[in-house]
Amino acid sequence: MASFKHNSEENYIEIIQRLVKTVVVLLLLVVALIILDIIDLSSPKKIKPPAKEITETKTEEIKIDSVAMAPDTLAIAKEANADIIKYGRQLIANTSYYLGPKGIVKQLSNGMNCQNCHLDAGTRPYGNNYLAVASTYPKFRERSGSIESIHKRVNDCVERSLNGAALDTNSKEMQAIVAYIKWVGKEIPKGNKPKGSGIKELAFIDRAAHPEKGKIVYSLKCKSCHMESGEGKLNGDGKSYQYPPLWGKHSYNTGAGLYRLSRFAGYVKYNMPQGVTYINTQLTDEEAWDVAAFVNSQSRPGKDLSKDWPKIAGKPVDHPFGPYADNFTENQHKYGPFQAIADARKKPDKK
Ligand code: HEC
Ligand code: HEC
Repeated sequence: MASFKHNSEENYIEIIQRLVKTVVVLLLLVVALIILDIIDLSSPKKIKPPAKEITETKTEEIKIDSVAMAPDTLAIAKEANADIIKYGRQLIANTSYYLGPKGIVKQLSNGMNCQNCHLDAGTRPYGNNYLAVASTYPKFRERSGSIESIHKRVNDCVERSLNGAALDTNSKEMQAIVAYIKWVGKEIPKGNKPKGSGIKELAFIDRAAHPEKGKIVYSLKCKSCHMESGEGKLNGDGKSYQYPPLWGKHSYNTGAGLYRLSRFAGYVKYNMPQGVTYINTQLTDEEAWDVAAFVNSQSRPGKDLSKDWPKIAGKPVDHPFGPYADNFTENQHKYGPFQAIADARKKPDKK
């Protein structure tokens, strides 16, 4: 009995020892598994792709969120006046086909399209888009000294940028253009000028822009499309441009927005050469200002500007025609340096 007891005690200890061993082994296994799992989780193969994806989506979201976007064109179909909006979009994109020198509706403009300057039918971020038009017009403008409707502003571009004759406000074409422009900006709250709208402001450089330096930029980066003589290149149909003119008889006139250096430089910096966007630019600021000076020192149609800027103090710093309310020369108002002019305006009225 005693020996049996002894035996059974020994057995008992042995069982406990085995149990402990098994538990230890199991514990070790679990620990090993956990360690393996951690190693596995932190292995570059497994953990990096999701992390990368997350950062990538985030940056893209930030970029897209930071500029206002036009509604999706497919959504035009849902509008009550869809047909007129669509016609307006056509007129913006193919202005010459409808209203150019050989236009099928009227012949009242120079052969350029609104879209040549208002990219992607006026929807591209910083491509001189129409996102702030519906939200900010009618508005007072110093150039005319009056409160301008969208119709009036459209005709400004027809008469200046397209060097043409104004459209009748009641014409189907004007109604369509305005309907489309309103649709582009329909999601922007009244009074807002959203980020990404119009032309992106380019910082002034601290010297005058230099036409001769700009000529070199033009030869290297613009001439291949806009041509040596600046007259652009017509499409095969001879009715519209593949590459629009930058100067000469068929270009915008001296009353146009692009004739001001800041408008030209800002447009070109963030949109040219073709393919450039505000996120991926090619020209330095100096190159943009210099090429603007070169192009805007070439010949182009004139415009009677005697009725513009009824209050001369309202002229922008880069308005290239006097008289001025300050003592800077016409030459400095055309080519800069502009910062000095801007600073002089900020000073409180002299004693
Ligand atoms: C040669 C270039 C050019 C062409 C072509 C052109 N525009 Fe413009 N347009 C401009 C510039 C430059 C501005 C002023 C942008 C600024 O001041 O920031 C402007 C401004 C406008 C504005 C006011 C935008 C705002 O936010 O205040 C409207 C509306 C407009 N254009 C409509 C048209 C229409 C419609 C056409 C065609 C019939 C047209 N433009 C053709 C260059 C052009
Ligand atoms: C690869 C061809 C190409 C090159 C290079 C190019 N552009 Fe353009 N440019 C275009 C096209 C195409 C348009 C019209 C865009 C549209 O209708 O969508 C345009 C439009 C313009 C416009 C507005 C319309 C006008 O004719 O007034 C200006 C200003 C302009 N380009 C300036 C420049 C300058 C300055 C350079 C050189 C820094 C340049 N471009 C280089 C193709 C080009």
